[in-house]
Amino acid sequence: MRVFITGASGHIGSAVVPALISGDHEVIGLARSEASAAAIEAAGGRALRGDLDDLEGLRAAARAADGVIHLAYKHEAMVTGDYLGAAEDDLRVVRALGEALTDSGKPFVGIAGTLALAVPGRRDRPGTEHDTVESGPRIDAENFVIGLAEHGVRSSVVRLSPLVHSSLDHHGFTPMLIEIAATTGVSGYLGDGANRWPAVHTLDAARLIQLALERAPAGSRLHGVADEGVPFREIAEVIGQRVNVPVEPIAPEEAMAHFGFLGRVVGLDDATANAITRELLDWEPVHPGLIEDMKAGHYFAGR
Ligand SMILES: NC(=O)c1ccc[n+]([C@@H]2O[C@H](COP(=O)([O-])OP(=O)(O)OC[C@H]3O[C@@H](n4cnc5c(N)ncnc54)[C@H](OP(=O)(O)O)[C@@H]3O)[C@@H](O)[C@H]2O)c1
Repeated sequence: MRVFITGASGHIGSAVVPALISGDHEVIGLARSEASAAAIEAAGGRALRGDLDDLEGLRAAARAADGVIHLAYKHEAMVTGDYLGAAEDDLRVVRALGEALTDSGKPFVGIAGTLALAVPGRRDRPGTEHDTVESGPRIDAENFVIGLAEHGVRSSVVRLSPLVHSSLDHHGFTPMLIEIAATTGVSGYLGDGANRWPAVHTLDAARLIQLALERAPAGSRLHGVADEGVPFREIAEVIGQRVNVPVEPIAPEEAMAHFGFLGRVVGLDDATANAITRELLDWEPVHPGLIEDMKAGHYFAGR
């Protein structure tokens, strides 16, 4: 299949591109800079210079492809405080890609996050692929992509764990939490730290995204989850030990000051199941879990 991928040069894209190429697909990756183009070409794909703001360019690339995977996201805007603006731009992008694919029968894989299902305190049961949220930032894009199934698109959404981890992860939430601990001198958690976060290894996530492209039924919500829920305090403990700082509760009113924009989510319980995804696509995560991967040391090299 000739596959158009946005975000091909990013963390997860850097695993998806080689996975697709090994699966005999042809990859055309959106690149907004020479460096991104070079990364895509080094991984065996073809770079298409462009930007997420060029909706006409995105439509043309989607029409020319046999399938689309949309991984790009304006994380820079999100991290610097324009969380809503990043989500609005993303919704514009999925609408443009969706319009181009309408009535084509082609696959369109969108990305969302399990954190949309998270709650303060403790969930009474892990979130499942059947759980939905009516609307909200990023959620509107997820629901739009799923709705494309009614318009002749084999659309699916992979809801990724907030912690997609591996040695390919240089600026995700795991390195951010490590940096926060190093700069504040405390590896923190909220409450008793028993709230759980799911996690998935980058290579397992990439395999799932490939399977979604190849054979997810139209309208599938899929969970990119391997560890169903790691207690946040366990994560903080590994970080504290490796960074050599104390592991301590952070007062709720200090959460934003300590964790920055992550303060909104660090205390949420996001235990998430993956049984439906595994069965539907015969997907089996095989790479190390979060704690094993963190203990392997690559996240702390040079500290
Ligand atoms: N990593 C995680 O733990 C995680 C967890 C849950 C969900 N997700 C979601 O999974 C998707 C992929 O995440 P990731 O970790 O691979 O992200 P990433 O490493 O930050 O990569 C983002 C990609 O988007 C591209 N991009 C950003 N702004 C762009 C623009 N204006 N025009 C064109 N391209 C642009 C980047 O291009 P450059 O290379 O040029 O910067 C890069 O290829 C995102 O939707 C993310 O929110 C990730």
